[in-house]
Amino acid sequence: MADSLTITDNRTGKQYEIPIEYGTYPKRSAFVRAFDLRQIKVADDDFGLLSYDPSFMNTASCRSAVTFIEGDEGTLRYRGYAIEELAHKSSFLEVAYLILHGELPTPAQLEEWRWQITHHTILHENIKTFMEGFRYDAHPMGILVGTVAALSTFYPDAKNITDVRSRSIQIHRLVAKMPTIAAFAYRHSIGMPYAYPDNDLSYTGNFLNMMYKMTELKYQPDPVLEHVLDVLFILHADHEQNCSANAMRSVASSHSDPFVAVAAATAALSGPLHGGANERVLRMLQEIGHKDQVADYVKQAKSGEYRLMGFGHRVYKNYDPRARILKELAQQVFEVTGKNPLLDIALELERIALEDDYFVERKLYPNVDFYSGIIYQAMGFPTDMFPVLFALPRTVGWLAQWQEMLKDPEQKIARPRQVYTGESERSLVPLEVRG
Ligand code: CMC
Repeated sequence: MADSLTITDNRTGKQYEIPIEYGTYPKRSAFVRAFDLRQIKVADDDFGLLSYDPSFMNTASCRSAVTFIEGDEGTLRYRGYAIEELAHKSSFLEVAYLILHGELPTPAQLEEWRWQITHHTILHENIKTFMEGFRYDAHPMGILVGTVAALSTFYPDAKNITDVRSRSIQIHRLVAKMPTIAAFAYRHSIGMPYAYPDNDLSYTGNFLNMMYKMTELKYQPDPVLEHVLDVLFILHADHEQNCSANAMRSVASSHSDPFVAVAAATAALSGPLHGGANERVLRMLQEIGHKDQVADYVKQAKSGEYRLMGFGHRVYKNYDPRARILKELAQQVFEVTGKNPLLDIALELERIALEDDYFVERKLYPNVDFYSGIIYQAMGFPTDMFPVLFALPRTVGWLAQWQEMLKDPEQKIARPRQVYTGESERSLVPLEVRG
């Protein structure tokens, strides 16, 4: 057999032929099925060989046609389209449609999609009351997780996950309502009355309206900032099987509804090693304080005292293409808002780290979170809103991953095996004689 692996089990001397299969692109994404190892046994009653792969370092958990990353080259594509092309020529809602449906929309399809999203932005008034129960200083990411989960109780029809029409409605609801919840969470945290959605505005224009509208009758977003936020949302829309996408798939694999699954994915995103990193980058830059302090800071990061936030990636072993686009975008933002003084520290940090053997050897480059925080801060977003700004567009990716999983006949409830390392069987010693 040409495309196969011959395994010799030296315990028994037996040989096994394991077929090698391929993804569609590139040809070198060859894989073997872990289940094929189960036939490798020392005795008939043996369980069979398991593959052990903590943190999924080398395990594909699914087949996916949504996003393609070539980590060594630093390439990212959604449905085959380069992220650079989408960022320059498309809009977030168009990209959201592409990610969810597999093809770019026609003008009529885009109009219908935009209409659906625009007309699902309002939250039930009881959700507002629910949100008021959070403490005045609650982190908006915690509010987002709790409130999205609560939506499940408002839309019991979402449990019909096998119904295509129901799935489509829940997708409209989630994509439309995430910005409203996010903006309400922010207004709650600063004690401001909530600003309701404005259907005349774009997706990002309306989000800025709900965040920043004061007493004016009609909020007019700055067109440059509205556009930049739209591009930021494109860059964050999906990133294949990352920690939160894996949480989405894993939770939804038990056939729970998409609201609780998105809440779980949002919770996974909130950690500082994932979407919470943008918040930590900003705090790190503030802590460094001046570009003259950067070299000392890098030295401490190398000693293992802490990590450089916004650096490194499980898949990219080259410059994250999203970080490159963000660096360009920062200039556009600063022309409107004035330069964020933290930019000089970030540029110096990047320069020193990219010349340093520690980072070069480990292939640690700036990732998407490195420059996004500086932009968000210049646009007036408070630091604890940064992970929320990541969760909004990523909801699209999570929902695409969810749909793909439900349609995939090979997918079942996610239930990894373990390698047991505890005690073998023993008998209980009565409490009186213990110790
Ligand atoms: N600063 C200093 N050293 C680092 C860093 C960093 N940011 N990232 C990795 N390393 C070192 C790490 O100590 C290890 O060194 P050694 O081989 O000597 O033990 C080596 O590089 C490999 O690291 P790892 O932890 O095995 O790599 P991983 O693939 O498990 O982790 C990561 C990937 C993103 C969690 C990690 O690079 C990290 O913690 N980065 C900082 C947090 C961050 O920016 N996260 C955002 C990721 S991009 C957006 C997203 O996914 O949300």
